[in-house]
Amino acid sequence: MRRSEARTGRTAPRTARQVLRWLASLLASLLGLVLLTALAGAGPAPAAEHRRDPAVIADNPYQRGPDPTRESITKPGTFATASMTLPADAGFRKGVVYYPTDTGQGTFGAIAFVPGYNGSWAALEWTGPWLASYGFVVMGFEATDPTDGDTPRGTQLLAALDYVTQRSAVRDRIDPHRTAVVGHSMGGGGALSAASKRPSLKAAVGLAPAVFSTDMTTMRVPSMLMAGQRDTTVTPSYTKNFYRQIPASTEKAYVELTGAGHGFPSWTPNPVMMSKVVPWFKIFVDNDDRYSTFLCPLMDSTGISGYQSTCPLLPGGPTPTTNRYEAESAPAVCTGTIDSNHTGYTGTGFCNGDSAVGAQAEFSVDAATAGTATLALRFANGTTTARPTSVAVNGSTVQTPSFEGTGAWSTWATKTLTVALKAGTNTIRFDPTSPAGLPNIDHLDVTTA
Ligand code: GCU
Repeated sequence: MRRSEARTGRTAPRTARQVLRWLASLLASLLGLVLLTALAGAGPAPAAEHRRDPAVIADNPYQRGPDPTRESITKPGTFATASMTLPADAGFRKGVVYYPTDTGQGTFGAIAFVPGYNGSWAALEWTGPWLASYGFVVMGFEATDPTDGDTPRGTQLLAALDYVTQRSAVRDRIDPHRTAVVGHSMGGGGALSAASKRPSLKAAVGLAPAVFSTDMTTMRVPSMLMAGQRDTTVTPSYTKNFYRQIPASTEKAYVELTGAGHGFPSWTPNPVMMSKVVPWFKIFVDNDDRYSTFLCPLMDSTGISGYQSTCPLLPGGPTPTTNRYEAESAPAVCTGTIDSNHTGYTGTGFCNGDSAVGAQAEFSVDAATAGTATLALRFANGTTTARPTSVAVNGSTVQTPSFEGTGAWSTWATKTLTVALKAGTNTIRFDPTSPAGLPNIDHLDVTTA
């Protein structure tokens, strides 16, 4: 059944020639859009595993903002926001972070947003303060190469989430375990690519998504796919086909905007789009079931020509558990000394590894089930030179993070990594790859779903 739907529906171009033809048609329609808007004088100048957990919902620590209404969700939210443009050395083209200025309500979820092929952040800029005003930290940026496909855009969305949660000036305002992605066109394909690579994301939204590389049949992240009824570049049937391929055990929604063309998110604020996208993020990033009522069933179909979803859309996946492993206590192993001369550590001290390649810190970590885990390593590096390492899980190197200077040996920072663990005991080893050795290591927090 599904297979025949996939064959008869308009499927993603797979061969290089199909991709080129698709890009040509995309450019042609973008050109058409520019001409049309110029003529009009408008001018572009300016899952089963996510089902309800009553305990999570009854006392939801992530709920932010007042009770929403049918009217209020067509407008920006109530949080005052600010923004900051990222410096070039942050590694993102035109990166801007929008955030609520309120620091009195706990942390916020984070959302990364990337535009489409040759698309500019300026066209989507209006979405940054809008989403942030609902209580999210939002990072918008442009693809490293404007012609990047969906796969690199997905990689860059994940890098943006890692940047904003770990290194940005607003990282303390963010809950690094509640992150989501959104993109337009090739960026929409990027958002779905990111979600398939990092199933711990809470939500994904693909706006007219161009999907070239993602196997939607294994998608686990709650995904909203939005189409424009008159979009001839990423047509509604193309988008609906990918919606169908997402397994029924994953929460999903298909939303089609009446009369909209391919550029529906661009330049002009789109209240219909936001009245569906904001609830999606609120439900799955904030576990906020006050917003389920807008999408299940669809409360307001003004401007909507097609809608499907896996009602009931309910938040509250498995409550994540975090276990702390101190570097100074067995079964952790420290190739060096256990020191306590620099303040601010947790437990009774920290691992000061020998200044040598391979002088490692190793943790034994228990996982109830196999799956994705978030590692948060607390460290201090009082020098100004980053210390590169490799991270091996059960003997295989999975990542090569570098631990930058923290300003002082008594100033501790946390680096977050996502890895796969097996059920049972796992060894996680940090091996320095430069003669300076490891930074000082305080503890490892391991969060599993
Ligand atoms: C200093 C510091 C140590 C640190 C070491 C290093 O000696 O006091 O805590 O481990 O530098 O460079 O690694």
